Amino acid sequence: LPSTALSLAFGYLLGSIPFGLILTRMAGLGDVRKIGSGNIGATNVLRTGNKKLAAATLLLDALKGTAAAAIASLWGVEAGIAAGLAAFLGHLYPVWLGFKGGKGVATYIGVLLGLVPWVVLVFAAIWLAMAKISRYSSLSALVATAVIPVVLYLTGHEKVALLFAVMTLITWVKHRANIKRLLAGTESRIGDKG
Ligand code: G3P
Repeated sequence: LPSTALSLAFGYLLGSIPFGLILTRMAGLGDVRKIGSGNIGATNVLRTGNKKLAAATLLLDALKGTAAAAIASLWGVEAGIAAGLAAFLGHLYPVWLGFKGGKGVATYIGVLLGLVPWVVLVFAAIWLAMAKISRYSSLSALVATAVIPVVLYLTGHEKVALLFAVMTLITWVKHRANIKRLLAGTESRIGDKG
């Protein structure tokens, strides 16, 4: 139990670092929460027009999840799962930002990389195919996250599959404004400003 509590705290601390906000501020681009969708994630950082900063946001928001899950995994699968979930929740609900964090996609990928690395290739393939067809970042993430728990379950990672089923559900809830815009045909496409 102490290792679980430690994993949760460690994961949350790492996950709650809002890299999108920090990087855009450091670059003098102002508050990313005031542009586009208002989200602190890579997709919205891209709406500042700075591709490198968006890529860095994606990478760092992912790697904090990877680090949390991979390091805690040294204490066992359960500890890795606990830290991964906590990092994901930390990103979505950072105490430092009044619990108003991101939508979780990058950190979802990062935790996956830390627990079952090869499945990230499945995520990437689905996301890229959907993005090529639709140019919607949100839709691509919604489809990819729907598939991942199934892939994990079918390949014998039952516990991790359960973790990702929960994370997918939360990701979808966090995307409810995006889902409404997709249905209304008003969602912005990758490459559009705001
Ligand atoms: O990863 C977040 C993405 O799916 C949607 O971002 O800024 O368009 O709401 P955004």
